[in-house]
This record gives sequence, C-alpha cells and structure tokens, in this order.
Amino acid sequence: MELKQISQTFMENGKIDTVLKDISLHVEKGEFVSIIGPSGCGKSTLFHIIGGLVAPSHGEVWIDGKEVTGQKGLISYMPQTHALFPWRTIEENVILAQEVAGIPAKQSIAQAREWLAKVGLAGYEKAYPHVLSGGMQQRAAFLRALLSPQEFMCLDEPFAALDALTRMDMQRWLLSIWEQNKRSVLFVTHSIEEALFLSDRIYLLSDKPTTIIQEIEVPFPRPRREEVLSEPMFQTLKQKIYATMKRVHV
Ligand SMILES: Nc1ncnc2c1ncn2[C@@H]1O[C@H](COP(=O)(O)OP(=O)(O)OP(=O)(O)O)[C@@H](O)[C@H]1O
Ligand SMILES: [Mg+2]
Repeated sequence: MELKQISQTFMENGKIDTVLKDISLHVEKGEFVSIIGPSGCGKSTLFHIIGGLVAPSHGEVWIDGKEVTGQKGLISYMPQTHALFPWRTIEENVILAQEVAGIPAKQSIAQAREWLAKVGLAGYEKAYPHVLSGGMQQRAAFLRALLSPQEFMCLDEPFAALDALTRMDMQRWLLSIWEQNKRSVLFVTHSIEEALFLSDRIYLLSDKPTTIIQEIEVPFPRPRREEVLSEPMFQTLKQKIYATMKRVHV
C-alpha cells in the first residue's frame, strides 16, 4: 500500500482547514507499520482515504501496484470504535466481511469458531456483543478484521479503550497472531511503547497541517517477546520519540 502526496482540506465554518499536507508513506507486504500523531491530526481521516470512504483533496492511494483512490472494499479495516453490530451474534459479526465478499457462511462460520476459541472467546459464539467486556469486544472486532479476505489491514487505535493490563495482553496476543500470519498492517496508536513493541517501522506525524516529521526503523528482531521492553535500546528510542512528539505538540 502506498500513499502518494495525500492532502486533505475541509471547510470549517466557512474557512479552509488543512488537515493533511503532502503525506507520502508505504507499507510493504507483510510489514507492520505504525502511525503516531497528536489527537486531531488526521489519522482516522487518512484511514478513511485509504478505505475509499473519503476522497482526498489531492494525491493517490495505490494498492498492489494499482491506483485505487476512492475505491472501497479493498482493505480490511478496524475502526476506532469497535463497531460490532448489536443485533448480530459474535460469530455473525466476525464473518461479516466474508459475507460481504460472498464467501459461503458454512465455511466462514467454521473458521470463525476456530479463531474465537484461539482468542479465548469459546462459548461466546452465539452471544450478543453487549454481554462481552470491552477487551472481549475488541478481540471480536479484531478477528473480524483479521478474517476478512483483504490482505492489507488498517487498525485505528484498537486498544485505546482498554486498561493497561488488558492492553498488554492484547498487544502480546496481536503480536503472536501477526507473527503467524504476516499480514500487512497499518496501525494507529497514541502509545509510543505499543508502536515500538509491535512495529517494523513508525511514522511520526505533526499537528495540523499534518506532515510526516520522522520515519523510524524499529531494530528489534522477531519473534519479539515482552523482554524487549526493558532493553536499554528500547528505552532510548522511546525517549527520542517522546522528545520529538513533545516538540511538535507545543
Ligand atoms: N468530514 C469532515 N468535515 C470536516 N472536518 C473533518 C471531517 N473529518 C475530519 N475532520 C477534521 O479533521 C481533523 C482530523 O480528524 P481525525 O479524526 O482524522 O483525527 P485523528 O488524528 O484520528 O484524531 P484522534 O487521535 O483523536 O482519533 C479534525 O480537526 C476533524 O475535525
Ligand atoms: Mg482517530
């Protein structure tokens, strides 16, 4: 997936509001890339552009070597709010993208049940979302994105609403699933630690009008384990990113 010189302006109370300004970035096949940026800088807007829900004011979206600006249905997307449908059971929610893609329910339900068990949701296949805790709902929403047929996934702050311990569990869990699947991922987070723990590369974004201020290669080998969090290099990188983000946020 590649973004070429994406800019986005909105009309706000009769004034032009430039949100994204000349954003070019790429995610290679099987790569895990994170975006860190201040609140309101346009991260979700960028995902809406990639997903074809919003037409950019300028620039192009490329997937698999083709220009696909404005085309829907090409990516798997986990929005910032989990957006499980309350009237569908957990397994019906998980197979939604496959249903839209015309994959027979019998096949996708069997696969969904297998995965629900792997993520600790066995027994909840036929439950409705309101019965599940926040963390369980996030896992179900994540499975829906993971099992959708598109190879490229956009995850918008999937763990933001979780408490610190559940969040760490989910990060470990996501890492192990991703290391088995190697899907291409673009991941939005406010947590520097989370981005360093999970990613191959990180883009740091400025405040509006938003540009890319830095691109960071994360040097830790895979498979990664939690121990990496206490390595001196991890702490150094974390502090560097923190200092950069603090500078742009004043
Ligand atoms: N359809 C729209 N019309 C007008 N302004 C919009 C529209 N969509 C987004 N914006 C503006 O674009 C800016 C970026 O919003 P966006 O939701 O993309 O930020 P974000 O980086 O995802 O923030 P957060 O970290 O809080 O989720 C905001 O100022 C928002 O008000
Ligand atoms: Mg957002």
